[in-house]
Amino acid sequence: CGIVGYVGQRSAVDVVIDGLRRLEYRGYDSAGVALVFDAPGEGDPVMEIEKKAGKLANLEAVLDGIDRPVAHCGIGHTRWATHGVPSDRNAHPHVSADGKIALIHNGIIENFSQLRGELESGGVEFLSETDTEVAAHLLGREYAACGNLTEAMTRVCARLEGAFTLLAVAADDPDTVVGARRNSPLVVGVGEGEYFLASDVAAFIAYTTEAIELGQDQIVTISRDGIAISGFDGKPSEGNPFSVDWDISAAEKGGWDTFMRKEINEQPQAVADTLRGRIDGNGQIVLDEVRMSDQDFRDIDKVFIIACGTSYHAGLVTKYAIEHWTRIPCEVELSSEFRYRDPVLDRSTLVIAISQSGETMDTLMALRHAKDQKARVLSISNTVGSTIPRESDAVLYTRAGIEVAVASTKAFLTQLAACYLVGLHLAQIRGIKYADEVSAVLSELVATPDKITKLLQDMEPVRALAREVATRTEQRVLFIGRHVGYPVALEGALKLKELAYIHAEGFAAGELKHGPISLIDDGTPVIAIVPSPRGRSLLHDKIISNIQEVKARGAKVIAVCEEGDDITRVHADHVIETPASPTLLAPLLTAVPLQEFAAELATALDKDIDQPRNLAKSVTVE
Ligand code: G6P
Repeated sequence: CGIVGYVGQRSAVDVVIDGLRRLEYRGYDSAGVALVFDAPGEGDPVMEIEKKAGKLANLEAVLDGIDRPVAHCGIGHTRWATHGVPSDRNAHPHVSADGKIALIHNGIIENFSQLRGELESGGVEFLSETDTEVAAHLLGREYAACGNLTEAMTRVCARLEGAFTLLAVAADDPDTVVGARRNSPLVVGVGEGEYFLASDVAAFIAYTTEAIELGQDQIVTISRDGIAISGFDGKPSEGNPFSVDWDISAAEKGGWDTFMRKEINEQPQAVADTLRGRIDGNGQIVLDEVRMSDQDFRDIDKVFIIACGTSYHAGLVTKYAIEHWTRIPCEVELSSEFRYRDPVLDRSTLVIAISQSGETMDTLMALRHAKDQKARVLSISNTVGSTIPRESDAVLYTRAGIEVAVASTKAFLTQLAACYLVGLHLAQIRGIKYADEVSAVLSELVATPDKITKLLQDMEPVRALAREVATRTEQRVLFIGRHVGYPVALEGALKLKELAYIHAEGFAAGELKHGPISLIDDGTPVIAIVPSPRGRSLLHDKIISNIQEVKARGAKVIAVCEEGDDITRVHADHVIETPASPTLLAPLLTAVPLQEFAAELATALDKDIDQPRNLAKSVTVE
């Protein structure tokens, strides 16, 4: 997930490794470099490639053990596995068949299997399982044909679909690094007689604060003499120059004050990445690993979802979606409870295990219990090659990138996105009643990342409310919701408990009157998740009644509602508006202000929001 390129008077290996270290916050599971040497003597190397699974220290140990002339041109990469497990072989750079081109890549090349098939039938032998290697071979072929790295890169980009940042060097050109950008980030650092390319400025801020942001579909060529930018159409173009105004201490967090804030703001990209490339040419949803036949999926007559913590809340939302789209009964169970109550499972039960880390012991044990009972297991995880996916019959990976903050944010949203895909996949395979809704829902899903972006642009009112609530001496916050708003209420409360250590509770709004309403006192903050007034207006009417009930007892109501919901505006003390969305997909939006609310409230109380007390990111004990 980190990319660095350098040309200049300094030692490229030092600059590249230093840059990769500053990008470590992005998370990775392997690392590699390619160095091109100036004027090699007889028998000297022209290009050196080193790559290693694991931490940067593993790569450095290899590099330190070799004597080499100083290279002034190089590229480096830290990889976070998406296609193929973390290993030396799958680490970048990847090299063209003739050994002349080294290439690194961030993102996902969607049409890689088609390109791989084409290259293989032309006799190319693949050394890795990555999507990246196709780009290396294509670039090698084009470079051999035209002898110009920029031109070759332009030709290759015309063939690639998906999201990518590519950097490449050629063994016979020690003064050039070429980069290309579509969807994934790439910035240029401008020094004196030296240039840097990186996935973000943190990589080169120790050397220069002058930078150029590249636009979509641009190609950049750096050499010791200068820089040239062109479009994917080959026409000269320009980037957007800017000066970096934050200092090196913020570098590891990419300019954000905490990982949690950074991760909240990465959600549009994370959800888009999770959806990207998951629909094949026939409009069918594809899983990453499937050791089950379509018939196995058709035979399923019951779904169990098992998960813990935030992942459990994603599971609760999924129940509503799966039952509606597929008409298969679906139960959701905390992993830690599942196997101790002798659940009824057999070959026609599908167990969906949701785990960001893929290592949570409670979920792993529940999965093993399910397998012992002959149930099929499909897992949804953010960690390629982790234990839970390895032991499952089918896998769909979320592509949130590494999540550092202990409290889950972007992983949660990508779990929701992946769960919706699984629900739609089941509906497609089984051709059930609502299967014709699938394409409409898919286009709504694909539209959500932009809506999340829009929502994130206007979070200051949410933060102001959080700061106000933080000043209350007796601290208790209640969250209420109905339908999918209920799990969102649970998640909002969990975030607040985790981060701010205050008593927060989520309730099904209709259940409040059966007991918890006695908690409400003068000024008690109640956050209500209000469904869209369009479509299911009955649900909307009901929650408006619940808002009135708590208001009558003194509560201060903050409503999270759809923009333009004038009825809620009349009844609530404050409204937080979210973009319009179908009810089932609304959690992808309504959860976001609750994350911000918890983060700001905890910050106002001077808590460490990245590492709350007593919590661990991955819990490998039962
Ligand atoms: C821990 C974390 C939670 C997380 C839960 C499940 O308790 O602190 O944030 O939701 O584990 O983790 P998983 O990796 O299985 O999704």
